Amino acid sequence: MERFQRRLLSPRARRLIQGIEAPGGELIGYVSISNIDLYRKIGKFSILIGNRAYWDRGLGTAAARLFLRRIFGETTLKYLFLYTAHFNARAQRCFEKCGFRVVWDYVPAKDASAYESIKMMLTREMFLRSEALWRERMADPER
Ligand SMILES: CC(C)(COP(=O)(O)OP(=O)(O)OC[C@H]1O[C@@H](n2cnc3c(N)ncnc32)[C@H](O)[C@@H]1OP(=O)(O)O)[C@@H](O)C(=O)NCCC(=O)NCCS
Repeated sequence: MERFQRRLLSPRARRLIQGIEAPGGELIGYVSISNIDLYRKIGKFSILIGNRAYWDRGLGTAAARLFLRRIFGETTLKYLFLYTAHFNARAQRCFEKCGFRVVWDYVPAKDASAYESIKMMLTREMFLRSEALWRERMADPER
C-alpha cells in the first residue's frame, strides 16, 4: 500500500495499475488510472476483465470499487474520466454502479473511434455518495 501511494505521488508517475484476481486467485484483468495530472487532480480510469467467463458476476464492479476507494482515500486525485462505447451497455452499467455519470454522449465522426462515443466522469464526492448508497443497499437489499 505504501508503494502504491509513493508511486502515484511521484511526479513521474503517469499510471497506476492493479490486477484483478478471480476468487480462486487467477489473474483475469486489471483496473488502472492513466494520464494522471496531479496538478489538476484528474486521471483516466479503465478496466478490463479479459476472460468473458467472468463477466456479469459482479467482479468488475467489486474490483472497480475497491480500486476507487484507494484512489480517493489515499491520493489527492479528485476527478476521474473514462471513455466507452454506445454498444458497451455492460461497461456503462458497471461504471454507473460505481457512481460514474455520462457527461458527453455523441455520434463520433467517421474517422473517430466508436469506442470513445461516451464520456463519463466521477468526482470524489460522487463516489462517496455512491458508497453511502451501496452500504444502505447492503444493509437492506429490499431498498
Ligand atoms: C466492463 C467490465 C469490466 C464489467 O465487469 P463485469 O464483472 O462484467 O460487470 P458486473 O457484473 O460488475 O456488472 C455488469 C452489469 O451490467 C449488466 N449488463 C450486462 N449486460 C448488459 C446489457 N447488454 N445491457 C445492460 N446491462 C447489462 C449486468 O446485469 C450488471 O448489472 P446489474 O448488477 O445491475 O445486474 C467487463 O465486462 C469487461 O472487462 N469487459 C470487457 C472490457 C471492457 O468493456 N472494458 C471497459 C471499456 S470502457
